[in-house]
Amino acid sequence: MEIVTTRAALAEALAAKPGSPRGFVPTMGALHAGHISLVERARRENEVVVASVFVNPTQFNDPDDLKRYPRTPQEDIRLLEDAGTDIVFMPTPQEIYPEPDTRVFALAGVSEVMEGATRPGHFNGVAQVVSRLFDLVRPDRAYFGEKDFQQVAVIRAMCRECGYRLEIVSCPTVREADGLAMSSRNTLLGPAHRAAAPAIYRAMDRAAKQVRTSLGEGQAPAVEDVERQVAEEINSEQLLEVIYFRLVNARTLSPARSWDEEGGVQGCVAVQAGKVRLIDNLRFV
Ligand code: PAF
Repeated sequence: MEIVTTRAALAEALAAKPGSPRGFVPTMGALHAGHISLVERARRENEVVVASVFVNPTQFNDPDDLKRYPRTPQEDIRLLEDAGTDIVFMPTPQEIYPEPDTRVFALAGVSEVMEGATRPGHFNGVAQVVSRLFDLVRPDRAYFGEKDFQQVAVIRAMCRECGYRLEIVSCPTVREADGLAMSSRNTLLGPAHRAAAPAIYRAMDRAAKQVRTSLGEGQAPAVEDVERQVAEEINSEQLLEVIYFRLVNARTLSPARSWDEEGGVQGCVAVQAGKVRLIDNLRFV
């Protein structure tokens, strides 16, 4: 595996590995089994696999959150090498942003709700860095975890806006044995918050099963009632505080009005667990 830190070295490494298709896994490091599942899939589906490890400052709207974000570069290198990565790009912020990025992306409705509404500027920063990385790596396919459901929708919108022709591959969320969605941020949870956190998935999973059973019996619970029930169940864990739980059209991310939205209904949640903000999502129908 070749490790490169500059644009010039990346271009050289790519020229030395001309195979196609080229798969790309962008990450912010602190890698876990969810990231590795993306690399493994990219390895199966592509001739050349490139990963990046870069904690992107422009997508953090809270400087303390950026400072606290976990960084484990040596362990990341070991995991990427074991998973069969060909090239890993680990640039500095100056390398990615020699000049401040002032671009504002028109990402339509998908960037304005949920994470977009509660973390202003976050998705514009994601679009800035992902477009720069796509320009440098020029992948045929890029792999993202479905745990960041809204991020995948935003990246698809960014690709449409900028005319990128690569394939965006969205991969299933990998969960801990107790249901908690794997996230680099989980390492920041203290023992009590870590013990409480599986309630997030539990509440969504229980509600999704109830909804499917009711629909099977010809009944349709009100969408707002289910939203309220899930939020209340998570909030009943003393250490968790729901920021939002929304049932949305899985394609447009606009509020679901019924259970037969075209494209399906996705439950999306953000929860404050002490100082750590956790997100998760689940297909309801
Ligand atoms: O999902 C992430 O880790 C980041 O948002 C991404 C896509 C690597 C951009 O910094």
